[in-house]
Amino acid sequence: MRKPIIAGNWKMNKTPSEAKALVTELIPLVKDANCDVVVGVPAVNFAAVAEVIKGTNIKLGAQNMHWKESGAYTGELSAAMLKECGVEYVILGHSERRQYFGETDATVNLRTLAAVKAGLTPIICVGEKKEEREAGYTNALVAYQTLIALTGLTAEQVKNVVIAYEPVWAIGTGLTATDEQANETIGVIRAAIRGVYGDAADEVRIQYGGSMNPKNCKGLMAQPEIDGGLIGGASLKAPDFAQVVNFDK
Ligand code: PGA
Repeated sequence: MRKPIIAGNWKMNKTPSEAKALVTELIPLVKDANCDVVVGVPAVNFAAVAEVIKGTNIKLGAQNMHWKESGAYTGELSAAMLKECGVEYVILGHSERRQYFGETDATVNLRTLAAVKAGLTPIICVGEKKEEREAGYTNALVAYQTLIALTGLTAEQVKNVVIAYEPVWAIGTGLTATDEQANETIGVIRAAIRGVYGDAADEVRIQYGGSMNPKNCKGLMAQPEIDGGLIGGASLKAPDFAQVVNFDK
């Protein structure tokens, strides 16, 4: 019912020429994918990547954006700037932005509203830290993060949002949530959305992220609640990312 979506999060990796080489290698490997395919690249790579993926099934993603339309915000990028560069998706509230750049649930919400208003699809990241899981706060925390991020959207708008459940302790560590853990927590996120937006929750695509790779992607994607993946490290090598994209083959 929900079309899976596999998105790469390149983080602060790849110069424009390297980006061009990576997507050029990727195009033939993912051309028959049954899921939506997105590459979330550094902004300096938008032009190079947009040119190479033109006419293919790969969509362009950004890793952040500001919520204001324009103004005195040195170093920031607006939704309109992203749009004009061919960006269709934007990763928001990644745990690295929360940890290193002062991102909060409130600013994730502002960015989400601005992205949706501009016609971009947000990929909103939520997830618990290790100590929060150990203390038993995972479910309350992910539900809260999700609902705050979505505040102000209509049920119709919520249907098109993508959520990425990324346990912070699993990001870049090689540790993955078990298939069942990931499925259970994503179920909690969906139930929280249902509590406010009703059946729209059935249409929201919720990804898993955190050390997802060619080896573990099949098991994760076989879970009923998991609609895709947000892939960091494994998205930097075309054959690895392609294997995740082609998880059903
Ligand atoms: P990872 O990163 O796949 O390298 O763990 C995922 C992410 O941070 O989105």
